[in-house]
Amino acid sequence: MLNEKVQNALNEQINMELGAFYTYLSMAAHFEADGLKGFSAWTRHHAEEEMVHAMKLYDFVHHRRGRVLLTAIAPPKTDWQSPLAAFEDALHHEEKVTAAINALVDLARTERDHATESFLQWFVDEQVEEEEIVVDAIQKLKRVQDFAPGLYMLDRELAEQAGAEGEETEGEAE
Ligand code: FEO
Repeated sequence: MLNEKVQNALNEQINMELGAFYTYLSMAAHFEADGLKGFSAWTRHHAEEEMVHAMKLYDFVHHRRGRVLLTAIAPPKTDWQSPLAAFEDALHHEEKVTAAINALVDLARTERDHATESFLQWFVDEQVEEEEIVVDAIQKLKRVQDFAPGLYMLDRELAEQAGAEGEETEGEAE
């Protein structure tokens, strides 16, 4: 059974993951409107991953006989000056998620909640990957800058990445 402090913190994390879902989906809509289909596919795929993160937490709270309490999600930003600005925002967001996950692990340790601490290890590892892929995109965007052919190539690369990761996710689900 979850204690109240841990349950509240897990509920806050669910809200944060749903907030990330909203942010990436808003980026996808922005890129779609801008005609950058690859950027749109990549951020949309990433939004779906954030929903998976939220649902992992949702299920865990129930497995521990806790209560999920959903709260309001802040409206996401809707426009960015450039793909680079959007990905820099994404990195900032991921760093906040990483800090929140680390604080959750600290709380689980303080509360001697070993099951929650063990469960959260997946998120600790996932955040390393999350930050890495966003940093990778930022580095490429900085190299490309406003050079249209470079941006077009990156758009295609991100479309391929989103397609490959989508197939992997489907494979795992089977
Ligand atoms: Fe679920 Fe990208 O953090």
